[in-house]
Amino acid sequence: MKLAVTVAVVLLAATVAVVTSCTPADRDALLAFKSGLTEPYLGILNTWTGTDCCTNWYGVSCDPTDNRVNDIVLRGESEDKIFTQTGRSGYMTGSLSPSLCSLDRLTTLIVADWKAISGEIPPCITTLPHLRILDLVGNQITGAIPSDIGNLQKLTVLNIADNKLTGSIPPSIVNLNRLMHLDLSNNQISGELPSDLGKLSMMSRCLLNQNQLTGSIPTSIAGIYRLADLDLSMNKISGSIPQQIGSMPVLSTLNLDSNQLTGELPVNLLSNSGLNIVNLSRNGLDGNLPDVFTPRTYFSVLDLSFNKLKGAIPKSLSSARYVGHLDMSNNHLCGVIPAGFPFDHLEASSFTNNDCLCGSPLMRVC
Ligand SMILES: *[C@@H]1O[C@H](CO)[C@@H](O)[C@H](O)[C@H]1NC(C)=O
Repeated sequence: MKLAVTVAVVLLAATVAVVTSCTPADRDALLAFKSGLTEPYLGILNTWTGTDCCTNWYGVSCDPTDNRVNDIVLRGESEDKIFTQTGRSGYMTGSLSPSLCSLDRLTTLIVADWKAISGEIPPCITTLPHLRILDLVGNQITGAIPSDIGNLQKLTVLNIADNKLTGSIPPSIVNLNRLMHLDLSNNQISGELPSDLGKLSMMSRCLLNQNQLTGSIPTSIAGIYRLADLDLSMNKISGSIPQQIGSMPVLSTLNLDSNQLTGELPVNLLSNSGLNIVNLSRNGLDGNLPDVFTPRTYFSVLDLSFNKLKGAIPKSLSSARYVGHLDMSNNHLCGVIPAGFPFDHLEASSFTNNDCLCGSPLMRVC
């Protein structure tokens, strides 16, 4: 009896010892990942020591039921006291080791805002079957987005903005059918947008600005019911703005500025009362401004400057509920600037460099 109890206690102790520690394979993968990186100022990777990677390893968390590594969250911009006490923001060099790919229970990989992590995204990252969040924003990562990124069937957030990525957007990206947030902005990504981008039916934010993208805006985008924020600004996108974009149900921010768009403004774009921030500045848009404003019109920003718009400013704009920042400068508009709200609080710079606009706030009398 006594022996049996002793055996049971020893067995229990052994079991506890096993489940409270991470697996040796996960630990080895993390140590290989650590050895590819240098973080000279805060010493956060110095906490990655000892056998149990699930306890007190900065930024690492495990599934409590099986002690497999679930999350790596290393943010270089953080409110954590390790940052606030030193008054430093993050800085790390090195690259992302492919050893990460053996952490096959990983759901979150955030290695963000370290300013100087370089090298490529390990292509094997696309074999991580549980990955939901991939956030590598704010580094100096080069190379292309892995071509089979579409294999990450659970991915909801792909944020690799503010890096030095090149190549084109992989066609497989449209297979990420749980993707809600796509941010590739401020890289050197070229090529055309996949024409079937509209297959990303869960997407609510699509930020592709500040790249070298060419081709036209795929009409299929307008079919993304949940899309609230579309930013394609500062690319080389040409063609006209698809009519259908004007009838998107929850679109509230549309930034298409600094591209090579031509053609007329879709009529329903400016009558969509949910659309509050619109920047179409610095394109080659022409035609007249559609006379479609109503008491439901509400624009925080409506920037149409530096295009080839002609004709008059529609009087209906003065029926708008609110227009904060309006810029119609540097077009070929002509005629009387309507009186009343919102025109009474705007400065002349909102209307300068047109063909023959006149009236307040311009100095030119009609
Ligand atoms: C609109 O885009 C232009 C060109 O990219 C930029 O200069 C301008 O500041 C933007 N307007 C607003 C109100 O943000």
